[in-house]
Amino acid sequence: MYDFAITADDKSTFYRDLAAALESLVAGEPDAIANMANAAALIWESVPGLNWAGFYRNVGGELVLGPFQGRAACIRIPFGTGVCGAAAATGQVQRVDDVHAFPGHIACDAASISELVLPIARDDEVIAVLDLDSPHAARFDAEDEAGFVAIAAILARAL
Ligand code: SME
Repeated sequence: MYDFAITADDKSTFYRDLAAALESLVAGEPDAIANMANAAALIWESVPGLNWAGFYRNVGGELVLGPFQGRAACIRIPFGTGVCGAAAATGQVQRVDDVHAFPGHIACDAASISELVLPIARDDEVIAVLDLDSPHAARFDAEDEAGFVAIAAILARAL
């Protein structure tokens, strides 16, 4: 049984604890699907204010839905389309305060207002993106972004 209680109020401690929990969850496990599934569950349980947390994988140059928590979602997203597609095409983190103002945003869940999408890259190729959606405007600040960049770096070694 895994029982991670990540409750720190200050974000730097919170993300340090979250990264340590993720490291221990993926340690020694080579299966990418298992690691994505546990990462999505850990994030969903630990990070407040989310309505979706999960992965899209680069399958032949197209993003295809991977393990996630939240409502059923769009299955295929072309590179360059929407927030996830922008992260995959550019290799840059996308932090969007209001997705309604983002050109080409894909509304999988009408409740989503802000998003943080992190490319997960290995050998200069984006192999997946981690997509975090919130029903609150501007849910993610620079500290959240920095914390999740560290999470994405752990995942880059575990997928
Ligand atoms: N809103 C995303 C699509 C994925 S879902 O939110 C799960 C986007 O525009 O990339």
